[in-house]
Amino acid sequence: MRPEAFSSEMKRPAIFRGITFLGSALHWTVLLAAPLLLSLAVSGAQTSAANTQTPSRIRQGAAPAPKSYPPALVEDGGSVFQQNCSFCHGRDAGGGESGPDLTRSEMVTEDVNGDKIGAMVRKGRPEKGMPRFNFSDRQIASLTAFIHTQQNHALTKKGDRKGVDVADLQTGNLEAGKQYFNGPGGCVNCHSPTGDLAGIASRYRGLKLEEQMLYPENAKSKVTITLASGQTLSGNLAYLDEFTIGLIDATGMYRSSRTSDVKYQIDAPVNAHVDLFSRYTDADIHNLMAYLQTLR
Ligand code: HEC
Ligand code: HEC
Repeated sequence: MRPEAFSSEMKRPAIFRGITFLGSALHWTVLLAAPLLLSLAVSGAQTSAANTQTPSRIRQGAAPAPKSYPPALVEDGGSVFQQNCSFCHGRDAGGGESGPDLTRSEMVTEDVNGDKIGAMVRKGRPEKGMPRFNFSDRQIASLTAFIHTQQNHALTKKGDRKGVDVADLQTGNLEAGKQYFNGPGGCVNCHSPTGDLAGIASRYRGLKLEEQMLYPENAKSKVTITLASGQTLSGNLAYLDEFTIGLIDATGMYRSSRTSDVKYQIDAPVNAHVDLFSRYTDADIHNLMAYLQTLR
């Protein structure tokens, strides 16, 4: 648990902010907070709004002249993007089911050599659904090259771009989804179609179901805090920043300690979902959706 993994937003002493999980995946660290999860529902709507924006929203005057990047750098950036960003921002950065269209982003327009994009990617905006990533300068440079190149393409392209199509969610293969669930996805290690996921498709529909699958809302992390006295407290993690850790114990009581005074261990099985980001293909997600939608 490294302090630099906390975003400044997390320093606000809001007791029930409810960090859902702090994930440390193999090659990146992501911080997701419950408000993020709530915001996902909203971001579906934002996405469609974003899709109706006109490119005129981009202040060309403020933009540096379109720059061209070495093709190899753009290509590297493309693969980092496909692995880590595309399922939210779309394969072409043109907006996806839960992330805005980056080709129409003012931040991207105003970015110079990754100053804004790099800061955004490294800090994230967890409360709004944008995770943070630990990327090298080289990875940031390649992502920047890719995103700017996509923006240049989009600005010079005529005609309507495709928005989010809910019908896309129906294109998966049920059997393949079931196999992925029981096999490579490892979902079955934590879930059961007749247990916790029974009726999931009745509780969430369409995009909401997909968001819930990618970023489960309200997931609880367990924490055990060992006080200096040796006494231990355990419960659901309710708050964590650099200075303070709080939990809600079995009696519903909120208890907090200074992180410097205690030891703590967080168990967040839902982190498995973060690890899955870099493994899913679009087809896996569509197939899983086809399968989950049968669990009514
Ligand atoms: C789980 C979904 C998700 C993933 C993964 C994700 N983003 Fe985002 N991103 C978002 C959301 C949601 C926002 C909008 C945040 C807001 O409303 O402030 C955002 C915002 C941004 C912005 C700022 C856009 C603007 O105009 O404010 C940039 C740049 C960005 N993301 C780049 C990336 C890059 C690069 C990656 C991959 C390394 C990535 N994102 C991965 C969801 C995601
Ligand atoms: C290591 C354990 C683990 C693995 C592996 C895992 N999940 Fe989860 N998943 C969780 C936890 C924990 C939650 C949050 C449950 C809670 O606290 O309500 C969750 C929540 C969900 C939810 C939302 C459930 C609800 O009732 O809202 C869905 C859907 C889901 N996971 C699907 C999947 C799929 C599909 C896979 C495989 C691709 C998968 N999960 C892999 C641990 C895991």
